Amino acid sequence: MSVVELCREDEIAVVLVDNPPVNALKHEVRVGLMDAFSQARDDSAVAAIVLACAGRTFIAGADITEFDKPPKAPHLSEVIALMESIGKPIVAAIHGTALGGGFEIALGCHFRVAAPGARVGLPEIKLGLLPGAGGTQRLPRLIGVEKALPMILSGDPIPAKAALQYGAIDSILEGELTPAAVEFARRVVREKWPLRRVRDLDEKLAPMREDPAKFDELAASSSKRTRGLHAPAAAIEAVRWSLQVPFDEAERRVRSAFQELRQGEQSKAQRYIFFAEREAAKVPDVSPATRPREVARAAVIGAGTMGGGIAMSFANAGIPVSLIETGQEPLARGLDTIAKNYRNTVKRGGLAADEMERRLGLIAGSTEFERVAEADIVVEAVFEEMELKKRVFGELDRIAKPNAVLATNTSYLDVDAIGQSTKRPQSVLGMHFFSPANVMRLLEVVRGEQTAPDVLATAIGIGRRIGKVPVVVGVCHGFVGNRMLRARSIEAERMLLEGALPQEVDGAIVEFGFPMGPFAMGDLAGLDVSWRMRKAQGLKSEIADQLCEAGRFGQKTGKGFYLYEAGSRTPRPDPDVENLIVETSARHGVARRPIDKQEIVERLIYPMINEGARILEEGIAARPSDIDVIWIYGYGWPVWRGGPMFYADRVGLASIRDRLGEMAAHSKDERLEPAPMLARLADDRRGFASLVESKKAPRQ
Ligand SMILES: NC(=O)c1ccc[n+]([C@@H]2O[C@H](COP(=O)([O-])OP(=O)(O)OC[C@H]3O[C@@H](n4cnc5c(N)ncnc54)[C@H](O)[C@@H]3O)[C@@H](O)[C@H]2O)c1
Repeated sequence: MSVVELCREDEIAVVLVDNPPVNALKHEVRVGLMDAFSQARDDSAVAAIVLACAGRTFIAGADITEFDKPPKAPHLSEVIALMESIGKPIVAAIHGTALGGGFEIALGCHFRVAAPGARVGLPEIKLGLLPGAGGTQRLPRLIGVEKALPMILSGDPIPAKAALQYGAIDSILEGELTPAAVEFARRVVREKWPLRRVRDLDEKLAPMREDPAKFDELAASSSKRTRGLHAPAAAIEAVRWSLQVPFDEAERRVRSAFQELRQGEQSKAQRYIFFAEREAAKVPDVSPATRPREVARAAVIGAGTMGGGIAMSFANAGIPVSLIETGQEPLARGLDTIAKNYRNTVKRGGLAADEMERRLGLIAGSTEFERVAEADIVVEAVFEEMELKKRVFGELDRIAKPNAVLATNTSYLDVDAIGQSTKRPQSVLGMHFFSPANVMRLLEVVRGEQTAPDVLATAIGIGRRIGKVPVVVGVCHGFVGNRMLRARSIEAERMLLEGALPQEVDGAIVEFGFPMGPFAMGDLAGLDVSWRMRKAQGLKSEIADQLCEAGRFGQKTGKGFYLYEAGSRTPRPDPDVENLIVETSARHGVARRPIDKQEIVERLIYPMINEGARILEEGIAARPSDIDVIWIYGYGWPVWRGGPMFYADRVGLASIRDRLGEMAAHSKDERLEPAPMLARLADDRRGFASLVESKKAPRQ
């Protein structure tokens, strides 16, 4: 069967795209569309055309794998140019999602109708690209620059109702979509509606054309969080062209901007992460056919920082959840924080008030542990103490449903030991959320030695259902993310003793692209948390320990590595801290020296990469790309740099190996010696990516 079919219903031609699973616009589809539209044009019996899609969605975008290859004609703009030249009305019938090239092709139609649940958007920016086939020019003409620019810069789709309000679609049709769209097309013909090509519209551009300063204002406010990224800047320019130059000239410029972005490092990194995220949900030795256990109800134990956020994540996805505490007081505090969080979102316009009530209604606070008996999945988020966790799991074993999944949110503790405190270790695993748990998307799914495949599949499935990005990891101290973070923290503190100040270390890594540096992050999380952990393990951290001893726990006490004015989260350098650092160096007999930005970045990042190599060798992570996904979704690694392991390959493993060798000699720290895997790959002039390629290669 062909991927594009043409059929006729009296005078209406229906062009049907059928390229499962999401009707991506691969080359064959573009060729098929050219043929189908040419035939419909030449058939004098055809008065109007409906463009519709089979399966679960309208065209949901380009075929991303084609972005790695040179473009192949016909380009999507040529398909759209043909459609616009036909002179017969074309109606796009949108169900599911019309995304990227899919929405652009709909914008090339004269009319757009949609099913009530449909969504439309231009997500190219998320892949480091801009809409390359007219989206940056047609959307502003159709709905105005004020609405179009934020859509293009956020990449987020909008629902049919909003699209109708904006004028991006003409009608929402109930019932079966294609017949309703055919009916709509008949009406267009019968009532001789004028043929409106979006490219010819001008009315909505006029206000901004007259007042260009307005555009600059809008651009500045819509691109606040795009530091370091090329694509948003290019997209802003492209939309500006819609105000300044004729359509065809603007499109010529857009095409060359698109090609530049496509071949650039940033988009390559972002496309890599797009695939890495999907890959991460696959567990090499668990069959994709493994049936997850049914989850209708959840329970969370502990209503503290994490438990509250985890309960919200379940409620946000419509899953009822019991939130269990030891007493009324901590329970009330936990529920209060949740309500406050929701109220703030409502205030910011991110949530409707009735939706907040619905979500709050799904969270049932309780001090009765017996409530876990109702749950299909239980997430424990009590204090980070092994004996306590074992006790909680012992109780869970007694009370929870026989088939319930029992998860711990521990950050560091041995998940196998926790599993052993039950008679069903096969049902136990780690579900390591990140703070704030209702916001952060990473979920490390920690697989215990005895965790059953269906339990793993359930945790992954539920993770996705609640909007997280699950990555399966093995049991070790700190799993993947925190273990690598520890390597970074040690080196960060070492640099303080050698001559850097917190603001210099943080500044260099922020310039690299992180939202904040290790010291500002420590202040945010609370320095007391890691202090307590270090004490429990007999570890020391020269500067941080002294800060904690002085009661400087970070933002919560207004002082940490930095100073915070009352009510402010902005870190300000503190002369007292500088003195403390300088004195500590002197006490250790260290002659302080300036440390430049490049050295800071290398010394923060290379030890992480080294730890990542050990993690791979130990099988704690299944693939280098899993580590990259963890760092992007859990720790603020800049997505356009593709994650630490991707970055390592870009730098070249040989130079990282050599630099680590120097660092190890300098610090006399054997953890900095190049990991065997890293050294081996460097010797063979290979990168981490080659590990995956060689796994895919046929066995000899
Ligand atoms: N805070 C973070 O950034 C973070 C991130 C990831 C994982 N974690 C892990 O999550 C867990 C919880 O951390 P947190 O920061 O939310 O701690 P927290 O101190 O804020 O909350 C713990 C809550 O558990 C309750 N609790 C203690 N014993 C209980 C019991 N027997 N039954 C029911 N409730 C009980 C306490 O009253 C408290 O409200 C820890 O294992 C921690 O390592 C924390």
